[in-house]
Amino acid sequence: MRLLVTGGCGFIGSNFICYWLKKYHGDKVLNLDKLTYAGHLSSTIDFDENKNYSFVKGDICYPEIVAKCMKNVDIVVHFAAESHVDRSITDPTIFSRTNVLGTQVLLDAALRVKVKRFHHVSTDEVFGDLPLNSKHKFREDTLYNPHSPYAASKAASDHLVRAYHYTFGLPVTITNGANNYGPCQDPEKFMPRAITNLIENTPIKLYGKGDNIRNWLYVEDYCSAIDLVITKGKIGETYLVGGSSKELTNYDVARLIVGFFGLDKKYIKFVKDRSGHDRKYAIDSTKLKTLGWQPKYDFDKWLSKTIDWYKKNTWWWRPLKAKAENLYRKTGQI
Ligand code: NAD
Ligand code: TYD
Repeated sequence: MRLLVTGGCGFIGSNFICYWLKKYHGDKVLNLDKLTYAGHLSSTIDFDENKNYSFVKGDICYPEIVAKCMKNVDIVVHFAAESHVDRSITDPTIFSRTNVLGTQVLLDAALRVKVKRFHHVSTDEVFGDLPLNSKHKFREDTLYNPHSPYAASKAASDHLVRAYHYTFGLPVTITNGANNYGPCQDPEKFMPRAITNLIENTPIKLYGKGDNIRNWLYVEDYCSAIDLVITKGKIGETYLVGGSSKELTNYDVARLIVGFFGLDKKYIKFVKDRSGHDRKYAIDSTKLKTLGWQPKYDFDKWLSKTIDWYKKNTWWWRPLKAKAENLYRKTGQI
């Protein structure tokens, strides 16, 4: 098989290419990535010399580049996106461009060459949020109700993907995943920001009261879910992917992280809340589980391994850290 992976220099995309090349030896993977602030060639060093891997620097919004990359492709796995909620509050325009227009350019090109599958990687944030004390979970039939410009642009991209299936018969699948964690996540995001702050002897910054609840999915579990949906999922269908974490507030996660460092709650500082901060995400993955998927990675153990990865790989994140903190200097969450 020949795969076109978009956004393969980002967090989940790079982990996915590594996973796929290890598992499917004969397959060829072409990575199309614009190398934005979130795309790092340093995230591809584990596979960039693999003879089945190639890289094109380019923007998914440009039809000519996309058409070239789409030649002879069997499967598209579409990760490329602007993915950070905080950035979507300071600069929403690029979110509509990349996440909506970029997805449509890819869909058009995929249709022209008649790919066997277009897999769209999406997020649980399209469903909005739940009250903190809610016992409900998002399911595939939950109504879309996105809150942030990021979530709204991802919701629009999901709708486009489905429209290309219904209208033109493009063979699509979609996964909506929970918050991922693991190696090679940009230090702008909560977990790597918290870990790298502590390595630099700076407190974790918690938005608001720290009582927001997220579901945490180890990145390799999201990769295996995407693999299963591509190989066994039903065309035209959507699958929700939740992780193994218990119901944890951001404060709970921060307490766990400071604990792994042998520190105490003095290393947690509360800062200004995010505007429109979603309260709670919770996912019911029953539909995916009926295909035979289970999250393999226990939250506490893999949080500790993730911390070890950032401790050992300071060369990877140190060059990115100052830029990440600059964003928070602008938003006042420092
Ligand atoms: P990321 O921000 O780490 O990486 C995004 C990648 O896309 C980068 O390499 C960037 O250079 C590339 N990119 C951005 N704009 C591009 C463009 N116009 N053309 C080509 N490449 C471009 O994102 P991530 O966390 O790896 O997320 C990947 C996908 O998974 C996204 O679609 C996101 O919405 C979705 N998702 C993320 C999470 C999460 O917790 N991180 C959870 C669920 C779903
Ligand atoms: P984030 O990693 O940005 O993911 P998302 O907003 O897509 O869920 O943030 C995860 C949670 O952590 C979210 O509730 C916002 C919060 N947060 C903090 O409390 N402090 C921080 O420094 C950051 C980056 C996020």
